[in-house]
Amino acid sequence: MYCRDKTMFSFVVFSVCYSLISAVVQVEPREISSYVAAVYEHSLILNPEPHVPLSRAASLQHLQRNLDIYEQQAARASQQGAQILVFPEDGLQGFNFSRSSISGYLEIIPDPQQERWNPCTEPEKYNNTEVLQRLSCMARRNKLYLVANMAGLQPCPLKTDPTSSCPSDGRWQFNTNVVFSSDGLLVARYHKNNPYFEEAFNTPPQPEIITFDTPFAGKFGLITCFDILFNEPTITLLEKDVRQLIFPTAWMNQLPLLDTIQFQQAISLGANITLLAANIRSDTLIMTGSGIYTPFSATYHHAQRGDPEEGRLLVARVPVLEQDGAFAAESKSSTAADSGFCHHESCSDASSVPPSSDTFTSSMMWDPFTFVLLQETEGRVNVCNGTFCCHLQYQRFPQGGSNELYALGAFAGTHIVNGRYAVQVCALVRCAGLDLSSCGQEVEEAESKMDFQLEGKFGTRNVYPSVLASKMVLEQPEHFEKGADGKVILKHSNMSGGLVTACLYGRMYHLDNE
Ligand SMILES: *[C@@H]1O[C@H](CO)[C@@H](O)[C@H](O)[C@H]1NC(C)=O
Ligand SMILES: *[C@@H]1O[C@H](CO)[C@@H](O)[C@H](O)[C@H]1NC(C)=O
Ligand SMILES: *[C@@H]1O[C@H](CO)[C@@H](O)[C@H](O)[C@H]1NC(C)=O
Ligand SMILES: *[C@@H]1O[C@H](CO)[C@@H](O)[C@H](O)[C@H]1NC(C)=O
Ligand SMILES: *[C@@H]1O[C@H](CO)[C@@H](O)[C@H](O)[C@H]1NC(C)=O
Repeated sequence: MYCRDKTMFSFVVFSVCYSLISAVVQVEPREISSYVAAVYEHSLILNPEPHVPLSRAASLQHLQRNLDIYEQQAARASQQGAQILVFPEDGLQGFNFSRSSISGYLEIIPDPQQERWNPCTEPEKYNNTEVLQRLSCMARRNKLYLVANMAGLQPCPLKTDPTSSCPSDGRWQFNTNVVFSSDGLLVARYHKNNPYFEEAFNTPPQPEIITFDTPFAGKFGLITCFDILFNEPTITLLEKDVRQLIFPTAWMNQLPLLDTIQFQQAISLGANITLLAANIRSDTLIMTGSGIYTPFSATYHHAQRGDPEEGRLLVARVPVLEQDGAFAAESKSSTAADSGFCHHESCSDASSVPPSSDTFTSSMMWDPFTFVLLQETEGRVNVCNGTFCCHLQYQRFPQGGSNELYALGAFAGTHIVNGRYAVQVCALVRCAGLDLSSCGQEVEEAESKMDFQLEGKFGTRNVYPSVLASKMVLEQPEHFEKGADGKVILKHSNMSGGLVTACLYGRMYHLDNE
C-alpha cells in the first residue's frame, strides 16, 4: 500500500466516470481484437483491532465477509461480459497487522510455475486454503480471469548460514497477487516487491517478474501499489514487451502530482500501455480512484466528498495491445494528432525564453520546487532547478476564476519522504491560495481553463504526462511527444474544466540508489 502517512492530509473526493472507449477503434490499422475488463473498487470490512492476533477460524470469518462482496461483484462483472476482473490490494484482510497478528490470515500459496493446481476442483490437495478455494471457484463459476490480493506464507529453510535471507522465524510472509483462469486454475502468483511500511510482510529476496497469458488478450504483467513507481518490477515488465499491467492498489491520494487516477492515467499514457487499476475505497484512509486505462481511453471512478462509502464496479471493452516492442524503442512519437494550438510564431521554441528571474521555492509533496508565477493572460515562462528546465507557453481563460494563482514548477532531485526515488518534474499547478507558499499545496478545484504547451528536456525517457481538471476529471492530452534528445512535450487545449495540474513526471530510475 502506498502513502499511509500520518502527516498527510485529506481531501480529494469528487467523482467522475468518464469514457472514451468508442474512440478506440480507429487507431490501429490492423484488425483490432478487444476484450472486456473489469476492476472493483472495494469498500472493505475492516478488522477493528488488526494488532490483536486471531485464530484461523476467526480470521476466516472476517475474510469470508469480504469474499461475500467479491462473490457478488464477480457475478455482476460476469453478467456484463467481463473476461477479467481485478480486486484491490489488501481488499480481503485490510491493513495495520503486525508480523504475528496476521498469522491467522495467511495461506501457503503453491507456485503455479512449479505445479498445476485448481483449488476449486482439488480442494483437498492443501489444508488451510479456504481463500484460494473460494477465489478459484468464483473465477470458475463466473467464467472469468480473476485477480485478487491476499496474505501469503512460504516456509523457508532456516540455515545456520547468517547470510541466508530466510527470516529468523523460518517463513516468508508476502503481500501476494493471485490469478485464476476462467476454469479456476491458479495461473500466477506475484509477491509485491516494494512494500510500503507493511510490518506484516517481507520484501521478496529477488524481484519477481510475473506475467500470465490469456486466450482473449495475450499477456498481462502483475504489479502492486507502490511498485508502480519503481524499476523493479514495473519497467522490467515493460522492457519484456508486456503492454497490459494489472494493478491492485491501496493508494492514499496525494495531490497535486500523485492522485490515484491522475498517476494511473499518466503511467498508461507515458508507457503506452493498458493499466487495470483497482483501489480500496475508504474515506478515513483517503483511498479512492480506480480505472481501466488504455493509451486512447480512460474509464475511471473517483469518489466525491460526501458520497456514501461504497464499492464501485467498472467494466469497459478495450483493445488488445500488441507486443510490438514500442516501449523498447529508443524514441517514440505520439499517436495523438497535432493540435491547432500555436498562438505564436516561435511557439515550438519555448526554450529560447530566458529563465525567469523572479522565482521562488515552495514545497510540493515535500520536495523543494523552484516556481515562477504565471502573471499574464498569455505568455511564456521558463523555470529551472539546476540544469533541469521546464518551459511553458500558455493562454489562460479566467472564466470567473481570475484571482486564481498559477505557477510553473521544476524539481530535479531525489524524493526522500515516505519512499526514496529520483525524479525530474515539470508541473503547472493551481496554487491552493493567494500566497506563493500555497503553490504546490493540495487543491482539487479550479475555474481557469488554459491552452498550453508544457515541455522539458529530461534525462530519461520514462516521463509520465497528466492533465487533471477541476473536481477530479481527467483530460486526455491532445498531444504528447517524446523526442530522441530527451525533449518531452505535452500540449493541450479546449479543456472541459478548470486546470488543477498539468504535469510531466519523469522517473530517474537509474539514480534511485545514488
Ligand atoms: C492504520 O494505522 C494508521 C496510523 O498508524 C491509522 O491512521 C489508520 O487509521 C490505521 N488503519 C486501520 C485500518 O486501522
Ligand atoms: C490436512 O489436515 C488433516 C487433519 O489435520 C490431515 O490429516 C491431512 O493430512 C492434512 N492434509 C494435507 C494435504 O496436509
Ligand atoms: C503505442 O503503441 C501503438 C501500438 O499499440 C503504436 O502504434 C504507437 O506508435 C505507440 N505510441 C508510442 C508513442 O510509442
Ligand atoms: C478547440 O475549440 C475550437 C473552438 O471550438 C476549435 O476551433 C478547435 O478546433 C478546437 N481544437 C482542438 C484541438 O480540438
Ligand atoms: C533545486 O532547487 C533546490 C531548492 O532551491 C536546491 O536545493 C537544489 O540544489 C536544486 N537542484 C539542482 C539540481 O540544482
